[in-house]
Amino acid sequence: MLKVALPKGRIAKETLDIFEEIFHKKFVFEDRKLILESDGFRFLLVRNQDVPSYVLHQAADIGVVGLDVLEEKDEDLVRLLDLGIGKCRVCVGMQKDKEIDYTLPEIKIATKMSNIAQKYFSNKAMGVKIIKLYGSIELAPLVGLSDAIVDIVETGTTMEQNGLKVVETIMESSAYLISNKNSFIQKREDIISLYEKISKILA
Ligand code: PRP
Repeated sequence: MLKVALPKGRIAKETLDIFEEIFHKKFVFEDRKLILESDGFRFLLVRNQDVPSYVLHQAADIGVVGLDVLEEKDEDLVRLLDLGIGKCRVCVGMQKDKEIDYTLPEIKIATKMSNIAQKYFSNKAMGVKIIKLYGSIELAPLVGLSDAIVDIVETGTTMEQNGLKVVETIMESSAYLISNKNSFIQKREDIISLYEKISKILA
């Protein structure tokens, strides 16, 4: 049995579509259920940011999660395959008439992604004060809570509709198939076999 952690929402749906194509079977979570068992797989539906924890602690053998989350959490996980779904960018956003002033000693950043933001500005030798938020990040600079945000941009609509623009792109992201080292050794054949099937579908 391979245990697979999937992030709630579109990426879970698109990952299950790939499984359906491989195994010629429907993989659908019932109503509010969080576990789906079928064909030698146990799928777990978890929050996006929680996927690395489930996989790291071996509650799941493998998982699907955005590269942005992997970079933010920076856990010791095996990155098996870029699934090419859930594409987005992690960007610095500011009000349309503003730019980053690198002559200032410090910038105040509102974000869900503290580590990515911290590392990015540290590499540019700029001090950063992180204001950790859990959602509606785009609001922060509009009400003076921060100078800028570091956030996910997919279509760009949220920034656009809130008078913000991308000033710098930190990284491109897409969903990766990951594993923990123990499962990768213990269930190597199952994982490699699945890896090969998925690679074939993606190609
Ligand atoms: C994410 C992200 C942006 C938005 C970007 O938020 O934090 O706010 O999507 O998408 P767009 O470029 O297509 O507009 P999410 O929908 O996860 O809500 P949140 O505010 O609760 O984080």
